[in-house]
Amino acid sequence: MTRLPISLQSLVVQCIALLLAALLNRLLQTPFSYQPALWQLALAQGAIAVGLSLLWRQPAWWPPLHFGFLPAILLARQASVPAWTYLAAFLLLVLFYWSTFRTRVPLYLSDHKAWQAVAPLLPATQAFRFIDLGSGLGGVPFYLEPRFPQGRFYGTEIAPAPWLISRLRAWLKRSRVRFMRRDYATLNLADFDVVFAFLSPAAMPGLWQQAQAQMRSGSLFISLSFAVNTRQPDHVVTLAEGARHTLYAWRM
Ligand SMILES: C[S@@+](CC[C@H](N)C(=O)[O-])C[C@H]1O[C@@H](n2cnc3c(N)ncnc32)[C@H](O)[C@@H]1O
Repeated sequence: MTRLPISLQSLVVQCIALLLAALLNRLLQTPFSYQPALWQLALAQGAIAVGLSLLWRQPAWWPPLHFGFLPAILLARQASVPAWTYLAAFLLLVLFYWSTFRTRVPLYLSDHKAWQAVAPLLPATQAFRFIDLGSGLGGVPFYLEPRFPQGRFYGTEIAPAPWLISRLRAWLKRSRVRFMRRDYATLNLADFDVVFAFLSPAAMPGLWQQAQAQMRSGSLFISLSFAVNTRQPDHVVTLAEGARHTLYAWRM
């Protein structure tokens, strides 16, 4: 049960809470002749979902999301928003977040400070191939490309919308960065001298295994924010207070 991805866990939590709230409604009606209002049932469902979420030890941001889910739907129904906007919003989210429920790596962007910290780790004069695994809107390779004319820059991105945006940006900038729409798990990391990733704790064990199995000796593996448990990094660059803004690098 605990091995279910968090998104599916949450679906189960919501469904069970809905069933229990419906049961509660029935119980209140039959012996007590009390008909709760819809908003009362929604709050009861939210409270039950919070309890289940806590029992399942979900991360701290899930209980408030569970609590607000059904009330938010009720509020949205009252706002008389045209039905197509929900479909449009859903499709937009799908295009940007694609298989996040499986990869557990959503789109969020690194910033200038991180890109600046990556630059001194790259070879100063010799030619190299650099890839950003999960390249988002392409910020990392776009920043580095003009600073390293001897480098070849690549990005791979699984979600269609960020990939398309990065391709468009490359075209507008006349950049030579090559963006692929591929799961990085299908790549051979031996093709690259520097591998950069800004993913999530959930992705790191699998990626580290892939990097160890495929990367050539002497090549560099860089991870923004997320370390691995099994080997101490060779370089640690702290960008700001707190571990989320740390750059880790391993010489393979
Ligand atoms: C945290 S964002 C980082 C974006 C970009 N690298 C940056 O630094 O701004 C992670 C990106 O990785 C993508 N991603 C997640 N799993 C992936 C996979 N298996 N293959 C390729 N891209 C993936 C997500 O769609 C998301 O856009």
